[in-house]
Amino acid sequence: MSNFTKRETFIPYNQPDLTDAEIHEVVETLRSGWIAKGPRTVKFEQEFAKYLGAKHAVAMNSCTAALHVALLSAGIGKGDEVITTPMTFASTANTILHVGATPVFADIDYQTGCIDPDEIEKKITPRTKAVIPVHYSGQVCDLDRIYEMADKYGLFVSEDAAHALGSRYKGRLIGNHLKGTAAYSFYATKNLTTGEGGMLVTDDDQIDAKARIWAGQGMSHNAWNRYAKGGTWQYDICEPGFKYNMFDIQAALGLVQLSRLEDMQLRRLKIAQKYQREFAKIDAVEPPFVPEYTTHSWHLYVLRIVPELLTIGRDQFITELNERNVGTSVHFIPVTDMSTYTKRYGFQKGDFPQTEKHFERIISLPLYPTLTEEQSDYIVAAVRDIVEKYHK
Ligand SMILES: Cc1ncc(COP(=O)(O)O)c(C=O)c1O
Repeated sequence: MSNFTKRETFIPYNQPDLTDAEIHEVVETLRSGWIAKGPRTVKFEQEFAKYLGAKHAVAMNSCTAALHVALLSAGIGKGDEVITTPMTFASTANTILHVGATPVFADIDYQTGCIDPDEIEKKITPRTKAVIPVHYSGQVCDLDRIYEMADKYGLFVSEDAAHALGSRYKGRLIGNHLKGTAAYSFYATKNLTTGEGGMLVTDDDQIDAKARIWAGQGMSHNAWNRYAKGGTWQYDICEPGFKYNMFDIQAALGLVQLSRLEDMQLRRLKIAQKYQREFAKIDAVEPPFVPEYTTHSWHLYVLRIVPELLTIGRDQFITELNERNVGTSVHFIPVTDMSTYTKRYGFQKGDFPQTEKHFERIISLPLYPTLTEEQSDYIVAAVRDIVEKYHK
């Protein structure tokens, strides 16, 4: 029997890792007199592109905006079909609807939680114009196979890299030497945060130029600079664009976070390695499988329970963790279970069997740089205690 002792205080599911350096840089920005999009945003774009080894980076106010702009810039619209995964946050699919195209869902590979290239191929029709592979939790999709298919069928690839800052495919950072685009999120829980924020990355000059227009109210040139000495008041609106730009208070956070990223990633890795090691010893849970081609960013730690060996299901498991003062989350309720999608497309149980099997089993555990050794040890002990209590 386990000699588990419940702790007094709650371990939150997530906490941003912000230091005095971020606070100082935000205050400096406030004092600088330039708080909207300005020099810090431009610098953040340059530093981010440099970090990835990408040609262009366009800073926006969310990853959702970046995904939307990617499709707009690639000319995806009415009558087109775009293939993506059900195992993602709704905005991945919503942005397909926002451009007037039709989302088509392809089931996941159960091992990784990422979209299955074989399932993509089954869903391709003459109307398919793009694919949005999601690097789920920081795992990476099998990009060689996806880009091979993209070449064969002439598809645009918009990688959803919301979770994948620091992830690598076959040793290369996601975002490096892109043939399509990659969209990053800097939401509060992400590996790098600006509170809210996002970045669209591409090596394609035309996509970059269009993205800047779509994300900047449709203005014809670098209009953020029009109030500075030498800036011009003249501009044209050449598209009905969106107000999607990042601004300098966010970029101040982003620049400091980027300078700390390697350290923060190492901390995540250390915790993930402990979880991998310890959960492998417990038969009724399944630690994430990481294929050889993947360097995981450990944005999320998605543990799967093995319901066949337990008298409780995933929901009760979460309640038990909560009672033991451990915060959790679930990534994700499949998009294809959301009412706006079931109403539109009539999805039913059995349509995406691997996604359904995965969803029934998943629990995201706390994983962030400020999580202490004591806290991660405790989380392992809490999982072990629940398994012992409810093992068949
Ligand atoms: C896979 C995925 N894509 C896109 C998004 C949207 O990111 P944002 O909140 O920055 O718009 C999220 C948000 O968490 C996400 O998890």
